[in-house]
Amino acid sequence: MKDIGIAPSILAADFGYLMRDIKAVENADYLHIDVMDGHYVNNISFGIPVIQSIRKYTDMKFFTHLMITEPEKYVKAFADAGSDNITFHVECSDDPDSLIDQIKALGKSAGISVHPDTPIEKVFPYIGKVDIILVMTVYPGFGGQGYLDSSDERISALRKAIDEKNADTVIAVDGGVTEENIKHIYDMGARLFVAGSSVFHAADPAGAVEELKRCAVSS
Ligand code: DX5
Ligand code: ZN
Repeated sequence: MKDIGIAPSILAADFGYLMRDIKAVENADYLHIDVMDGHYVNNISFGIPVIQSIRKYTDMKFFTHLMITEPEKYVKAFADAGSDNITFHVECSDDPDSLIDQIKALGKSAGISVHPDTPIEKVFPYIGKVDIILVMTVYPGFGGQGYLDSSDERISALRKAIDEKNADTVIAVDGGVTEENIKHIYDMGARLFVAGSSVFHAADPAGAVEELKRCAVSS
């Protein structure tokens, strides 16, 4: 099961017991950290001090998803706070190329994310340059939404474009991932799965991570 990763999203954790909930999913491949500023999305989550704090208590790889405007102003702070990957939205940057360079110069893995209403072709120029392309499979801003079926053709088109370039950019998906649909999404070529509700709302979050992996590669 090498080529599949699960990234539990702490947006679905109990913030009153945040470290307890993070410790419960240390068997996962990444910790997905949703940062929202109330401008790009209609919600506010948490920011740099929270990441700094949790960094002290876990060795998990931090996959920081910036749903914020002007991400170029903040990437250094998110890198210094302990992010391992920094992913920004293509809709939020005037110059994604230099922002990717900025993230890499900070020694971090770089990701670019794309909103469900943005043509998927918008991220094609960054194939081979970014480590991760994060396809939003729900409207960004809130957890617990259902997977948008319109994502299917977007993931497939992106898979084709990556394969044509023979690039190793990983397709990640974010939103509405469940034990029921993960195999379908895996088969279309996604390899990294963000999962909030289906992990943290499970009775056994660590078991849910393993079960998602098992379902994805089942025949
Ligand atoms: C939505 C966030 C997601 C969210 C996923 O804006 O980017 O990461 O936490 O939550 P679920 O898995 O519940 O759809
Ligand atoms: Zn996210």
